[in-house]
Amino acid sequence: MIQALSTPEIQQFINDHLLSDPATLMLKANKYPNWPMKEIVTQIQSKQKAKKKLPTWFSTSRIIFPPLLSMEQCSSELTAAYKAGLAEKGKRMVDLTGGFGVDISAFANLFSECHYVERNEGLSAIAQHNFESLGFQNLHVHTDDSIRFLKENRAFDLIYIDPARRGDRDQKVVSLNDCEPNVIDLLPDLLVKSKRVIIKTSPLLDIKGAIRELQHVAAVHVVAVGNEVKELLFELNASAEGDPIIHCVNLTKGKTEQFDFQFSEEEELLSTFGAMRKYLYEPNASILKGGGFKVIGERLKLRKLHPNSHLYTADVLVDDFPGRSFEVLDEISLNKKSLRKIIPTMKANITVRNYPMSVAQIRKKTGLKEGGEDYLFATSDQMGAKVFQTRKVT
Ligand SMILES: C[S@@+](CC[C@H](N)C(=O)[O-])C[C@H]1O[C@@H](n2cnc3c(N)ncnc32)[C@H](O)[C@@H]1O
Repeated sequence: MIQALSTPEIQQFINDHLLSDPATLMLKANKYPNWPMKEIVTQIQSKQKAKKKLPTWFSTSRIIFPPLLSMEQCSSELTAAYKAGLAEKGKRMVDLTGGFGVDISAFANLFSECHYVERNEGLSAIAQHNFESLGFQNLHVHTDDSIRFLKENRAFDLIYIDPARRGDRDQKVVSLNDCEPNVIDLLPDLLVKSKRVIIKTSPLLDIKGAIRELQHVAAVHVVAVGNEVKELLFELNASAEGDPIIHCVNLTKGKTEQFDFQFSEEEELLSTFGAMRKYLYEPNASILKGGGFKVIGERLKLRKLHPNSHLYTADVLVDDFPGRSFEVLDEISLNKKSLRKIIPTMKANITVRNYPMSVAQIRKKTGLKEGGEDYLFATSDQMGAKVFQTRKVT
């Protein structure tokens, strides 16, 4: 099938129909009786997904794409490059859950030998073909069960594992014990066979619980792209014991926000609370997921509005705040008439944190539409629920 899909005529057809509707294309199948139209349409759907997620793969000729589920499960080029930045140059590494091969390709420049292990034959054949198209010569493909592969192979400088997060009824799973392969069962073997292990997990996993389960975590990376947490990475080695560094990272266009802390530091601190001042600060999603709520406030000398609001305030503008900063214009009421006076366009961006109404309920009550220059924060300070009209600084 890979050969048939790689012919110049079919590759041309795929590129010419990247914007076409799959159902309409299937209706045209009888015009091309010798072509595998179902597979061609799958290529088109998956290649469409690759445009933003995997720009190099999208623009390289003769790349074959996997079914949509594997396209959804694979890392993006951006997060794969971040992971590669964590590894030191070495001799041998293995990716025990190769999938479409995006992560291992990012590690390929750092190791002389990279071993890709994947039990799904169709997927490993696609990976083999693509590694050739992309010009990699040090990637070795093994169609195998990774538990078996690990038992039979000697030491590595790095083991990388991104376990499948689909259960036996194709439902999404989060817990480390429910993923395939089960990394908790594999852990003793992983730590004996490699100096370093990196495990990628669902962004929904409870970080403290995972640190307890994995026991030898040296660092955790909470990786967000454009303020949306995409993945958690746990770096392990046999000598690491408790209190890892939590790296909260937000990759945005043109800059990377990074904030590091340890849970021991967070637990020792007491937040300083206070009413709203001139500037309002909202930490980025990776810090909120990481749980550095007190550290961010105390390190940057900000007051917190309320223990559960996770919004901060100060009279001074903090340069390079890892998140969004706003200038506070006023405290306002959600009364329609008064809103019309202060926001004549009746357009505002609304954020709700620790407030008795949802964004949808506020929009319904006030008639405010999305967009515009105003940012409304519906939140609570220690005196009660309040709404603030602000302007974005960064
Ligand atoms: C989340 S995907 C990995 C995606 C990959 N990191 C990438 O960037 O494309 C997980 C993969 O692990 C594979 N897998 C699950 N259990 C396995 C096992 N015991 N042995 C080998 N592969 C396995 C699945 O078939 C699936 O393709």
